[in-house]
Parts: sequence; C-alpha cells; structure tokens
Amino acid sequence: MAHIKKRRLGKTGLMVTELGLGAMDTPQVKEGGETLNLALDLGINFLDTARIYQGSEALIGEVISARGGKSFYIASKTINRTRDGSQYDVDRSLKLLGVDRIDLYQLDDVLPEEWDRLMAEGGAYEGLLIARERGLIDHIGITSHSLEVVEKAIACDAFETVMLEYSAFYRDAEKLIPLARAQDIGVIVMRPLGGSGRTSSLRTRMAAGQASLTPTMLLRYVLSNPDISVAIAGVRYPSRVRENVHLALTYDPLEEAKKREYEREAQQLF
Ligand SMILES: NC(=O)c1ccc[n+]([C@@H]2O[C@H](COP(=O)([O-])OP(=O)(O)OC[C@H]3O[C@@H](n4cnc5c(N)ncnc54)[C@H](OP(=O)(O)O)[C@@H]3O)[C@@H](O)[C@H]2O)c1
Repeated sequence: MAHIKKRRLGKTGLMVTELGLGAMDTPQVKEGGETLNLALDLGINFLDTARIYQGSEALIGEVISARGGKSFYIASKTINRTRDGSQYDVDRSLKLLGVDRIDLYQLDDVLPEEWDRLMAEGGAYEGLLIARERGLIDHIGITSHSLEVVEKAIACDAFETVMLEYSAFYRDAEKLIPLARAQDIGVIVMRPLGGSGRTSSLRTRMAAGQASLTPTMLLRYVLSNPDISVAIAGVRYPSRVRENVHLALTYDPLEEAKKREYEREAQQLF
C-alpha cells in the first residue's frame, strides 16, 4: 500500500502525514466515526480537535477506544486564557479523549490584545508549561488568524508549532511560513480549502459547471508548499477522506505558473 508522505512538525520532531484531518465539524454527522476510522485506516496520522469543537474530542475518544488504543497524533486546544483555565481544559481533553497524554496542545485563536495576558504569570501559557511538566501534554503550540500574533509566536521561541490560515483564497500568512521553517517551528495549515462556506458553494458551482477549481485542486495547492508541515482539511464525510487521500498519494507539486492560475480562479470565484 502507498503511504501518505510525512513531514517533520518542526522542533516537536513528530513525523506527521502532510495530509491531516480537522475534526471541527466531523461530529455533526452520523458518519463522523466512520470518517475518522477511514482516515486512520488510510494512513492519516494527525487529527486536530479542540475543547470548543462540540463533540469532537468525545468522538475521537470513542474511535480510540474502539480501535483498542491510539496510534496517531492528536492536537487539541484551549480558548481559556488563564493558567488554571488552560490546565482545567487539558484535564477535560484527556478525560474525553481517554488518553494519558496529548501530543500537542495549543492556545487557540489568539488575538493581538490577548498576547501579554496569555504570556504573563498566571496566563494560559504558564498553565500549558505546567501541564507539560506534569507529562500531560508533549508539545505546546498556538493558533491565530492574526498575522501579528503568528509573527510574535515565531519570534519568541515559546511555541513548537503555529497554526495559520493559508489557501489559494487566502495568502496573507504565506510570507510567515518560511520564517517559521527557519526557526524550526511546525506549520499547521487550517482552512486549507478555504473553509466550509466556500467549499459548499464551490461544490454547487461545480455541479452547475460554473467552476473549474475543485476541493482537491485546492488541497494540492497547499501541499505544494514545501515549508508547511501538515494541512488539516476539515471533513465530515468518508467520501471526502477517500478523495483527499487519493490526491495526497498521487499529486505532483504545482509549478509556480499553475499556482498563480489557481489563485486567479479562486479570486474570481469568491
Ligand atoms: N484554530 C482556529 O481558529 C481554527 C479555525 C478554523 C478551522 N480550524 C481547523 O482547521 C480545520 C479545517 O478548517 P475548515 O473545516 O473550516 O475548512 P477547510 O478544511 O478549508 O474546508 C472544509 C470543507 O471542505 C469540504 N471538503 C473537504 N474535502 C473535500 C473534498 N474532497 N471534496 C469536497 N469537499 C471537501 C468539507 O466538506 P464536509 O465537511 O461536507 O465533508 C468541509 O465543508 C478545522 O477542522 C479545524 O481543525 C482551526
């Protein structure tokens, strides 16, 4: 069986499949468990979840239990901003996932004005340091939609990974990716297909023959960047997993001219 290529997740040293799975919306459908199992069976080894993704950690916990253990990496996250709050969230995640430790725990969706408080004594970052010292989590990361925050996170040496948004629709954070790579910080790409709103509208336009760009072409665009570590495509249905894994197993990286073409098409679409 062919294997999905793996990339190093920065200084965590974890070797993660370049195609990961974002489990934010997976619990919304009855096929959610089947979707996760299929992804793992087909070799995806990185699942992204969060305390606030309704039912997501519990669903992953059920899958781990049914499979008789965990043989893949889990990244979860907290929107709690205090030392005690982030530790509380780690404990909740451990319980719902049914594991002794979590591979990566991230400060989630950080805004520029929250930075000082998060990083100060009593802030959520200190809580994650304590959780790591206690052996409850292995690595600490951060996620943000703010370029300012991602840039600070790359520069400050406190985080082993950053999660940023990057796709043919949204390239604002692209320039930060080589900076992260230079600091050996793992880059996790959220919303690699542009988000569920765009993809559902894209699927409608494809069906009407009004779009030539497809979700797997968008995935190919992101995977063609050699400096990212993993693209966590969000999926609810097993059919999407099959298509995305097929793409990951068969794609060649896009050439620059082709990338520009995809970007132009993406801009025209939305
Ligand atoms: N930290 C943060 O602030 C933050 C914010 C947003 C997202 N995230 C993370 O990033 C992950 C991905 O983000 P996202 O789900 O918003 O956006 P996305 O991955 O860009 O797009 C997800 C959408 O693409 C569809 N899709 C996937 N593969 C497809 C295929 N082969 N054909 C057709 N449609 C396909 C999915 O459909 P179905 O669902 O119908 O299968 C879903 O509607 C999330 O799950 C979450 O882990 C993090």
